[in-house]
Amino acid sequence: MTRRPLLHEYWPVLAETLPYLPLGDGPTPVRPLDGLGLRSPVWLKDESGYGRGGWGGNKVRKLEWLLPQAGRRGARTILSVGGLGTNWGLAAALYAREQGLDVALALVDHPVDDHVRAQLRRLRASGAVLYFPRTKRRLVLSLPWLVARHTHGLTPPYVLPAGGSSPLGTLGYVECALELADQVAGGLLPEPGWIVTPVGSGGTAAGLALGLRLAGLRTRVRGIVVNDTLRLDSAKLVGLAGRSRQLICARGADLPRTALGPADVVSEYGWLGAGYAHPTEAGARALHRAATEAGLELESTYTAKALAALVDLDAAGSLGREPVVFLNTFGPR
Ligand SMILES: Cc1ncc(COP(=O)(O)O)c(C=O)c1O
Repeated sequence: MTRRPLLHEYWPVLAETLPYLPLGDGPTPVRPLDGLGLRSPVWLKDESGYGRGGWGGNKVRKLEWLLPQAGRRGARTILSVGGLGTNWGLAAALYAREQGLDVALALVDHPVDDHVRAQLRRLRASGAVLYFPRTKRRLVLSLPWLVARHTHGLTPPYVLPAGGSSPLGTLGYVECALELADQVAGGLLPEPGWIVTPVGSGGTAAGLALGLRLAGLRTRVRGIVVNDTLRLDSAKLVGLAGRSRQLICARGADLPRTALGPADVVSEYGWLGAGYAHPTEAGARALHRAATEAGLELESTYTAKALAALVDLDAAGSLGREPVVFLNTFGPR
């Protein structure tokens, strides 16, 4: 694949300074999300097929920026963290291996169901080195040891936060927002008032917020927080978007003024339930309705909770009357 990212087209200097490895085929499709009986016109932007060989979902766009950076640093290993069922860790392991990079993952406990058990089997088969510190505290304490363990010669591993949501990984969703803006300009959908997305580590929501502003859209991000182990309030997401912006500027791009505020990326906590990866009744209902009424396959940890939120916010009239985009971040395997 030789596709150029829109970020390089907007700011050609970034082609020299910010390497990119295409792993999926954009633009991902948009279509009306009919059948759910909502008041606002809802559109789907479907990231599920973004990636190679059916390996879709929202992690792939982050890896398109992160993997070349690992290569640039001469790292032999990516070291990252996540929950037992981490989609991020699995995508990182599979795509990194194709680039000759090893992946080591430190995983913390959360409720285990059939999906998580299957995911763990895939993680073991992926060739990633797995560590099980169990709690976040023990994970943090073990990090220096893990870094030392995966240092080759003088080269440390490329350490990435949960979900790949570093300022660089976040560019994946800046790119997605630029793509959405192109689709709006091309008449494929109207300019949305809101885009609703799950928030697990924040990179997707923060990247979207920055990209929408860079593209000149007024669309705001409604982030449905599904993870209680990280701070993911609006200020935190605005901060991450700001660090991604600084990164692009430091690499030479002359960006339009894009002062993002908490109103541009709003964190909602009402659909988290008992915590990360704890299924909720509202989520189960949304998952079932999506499958039976809208032909959309979701999962219970992220996307079902986000759709449940969209349905409730719509019923409460708090999404306004403008069109809304639901971002499907789940890549079924
Ligand atoms: C299917 C799915 N949707 C959404 C998210 C959340 O995205 P982010 O981590 O960028 O907030 C994740 C991962 O955390 C995910 O696996």
